[in-house]
Amino acid sequence: MAKKVLSGIQPSGSLTIGNYIGAIKNYVKLQHENECYFMVVDLHAITVPQEPTALREQSESVAALYIAAGIDPAKANVFMQSHVPQHAELGWLMTTLTNMGELERMTQFKDKSSGKESVGAGLFVYPSLMAADVLLYNADLVPVGEDQKQHLELTRDLAGRFNHRFGEFFTIPEPFIPEVGARIMSLDDGTKKMSKSSPNAGSYIALLDPPDVISKKFSRATTDSGSEIKYDTVNKPEISNLMSIYAEFAGMTLQQVADQYEGQRYGGFKKDLAGVVVATLEPLQQKYHEIRSSGTITDILAEGAEKARFLAAETLAGVKERMGFLPFR
Ligand code: TYM
Repeated sequence: MAKKVLSGIQPSGSLTIGNYIGAIKNYVKLQHENECYFMVVDLHAITVPQEPTALREQSESVAALYIAAGIDPAKANVFMQSHVPQHAELGWLMTTLTNMGELERMTQFKDKSSGKESVGAGLFVYPSLMAADVLLYNADLVPVGEDQKQHLELTRDLAGRFNHRFGEFFTIPEPFIPEVGARIMSLDDGTKKMSKSSPNAGSYIALLDPPDVISKKFSRATTDSGSEIKYDTVNKPEISNLMSIYAEFAGMTLQQVADQYEGQRYGGFKKDLAGVVVATLEPLQQKYHEIRSSGTITDILAEGAEKARFLAAETLAGVKERMGFLPFR
């Protein structure tokens, strides 16, 4: 049976192959059999300061990357979070159901706020808004990378809490996390997640990096002093990470990658790795530039938001009624 699927990516930097493997690849897979809602979460992006011109450019860029990566707007609703005002409204309602302690435990908040002199309140209540994103569509499945698992657990708790207090209403969503590639690591440090907001561009491969830059970044990627191409995340986190990337881009299992490169050197493996990544990203980039210059993204986003609003309005009305808000008329 068709399930409802929802997910989103922040327009807060250039998307990386981590976002692609952890999230977008699964969006593309899930769109065929399910009712899908894929957003660009601009309301989340502003939980850290964004320069307005950059935010606008990044927002359109992420939407175009969705399409270039294979999301078909005829099958899935692609839209901007801020074009569906119900997100902000349900976000507030969810904030009032969330406990401070729950938000204080969020590792993403701890990471993003640690050592900062001033931290915006939006960054703290961000998980309540994310819960609203998912619950607004009564999503069954949420394709995300490993780092979003904790936020999704909170979403499930909040849905359960609402149902308990106000009567059965929300679907309890399930995370959809890939087995390989749920946490692609940084190229300069195998213990850190690859992140689009890293100040070191050499630590990630952006989906829009030119082929020569991709080759250079992989050739400079940190590796251990050994020589065996073996999947062992404890003792060889960097090589294991590169093997995961290879497997995901080549459509192979980790075992097949290990067998293929048994007894070979890191240098040759890294060169081949760049090759398989470029083989996917080059056509994606070409499609991306076509979409950007065609100007069709505005229409795609308008259509996606219109469909999303319809369902979002229905859910929000149900929530408000159950919570005891006086109807408008
Ligand atoms: P964001 O924008 O940080 O990341 C978008 C998606 O990419 C995944 N991801 C990764 N996967 C594997 N390896 C990595 N190195 C890597 N880096 C990022 C993330 O897990 C995510 O799936 N809070 C979310 C956005 C959001 C959302 C939602 C997601 C807002 N509302 C509702 C799902 C449902 C975030 O900041 O993702």
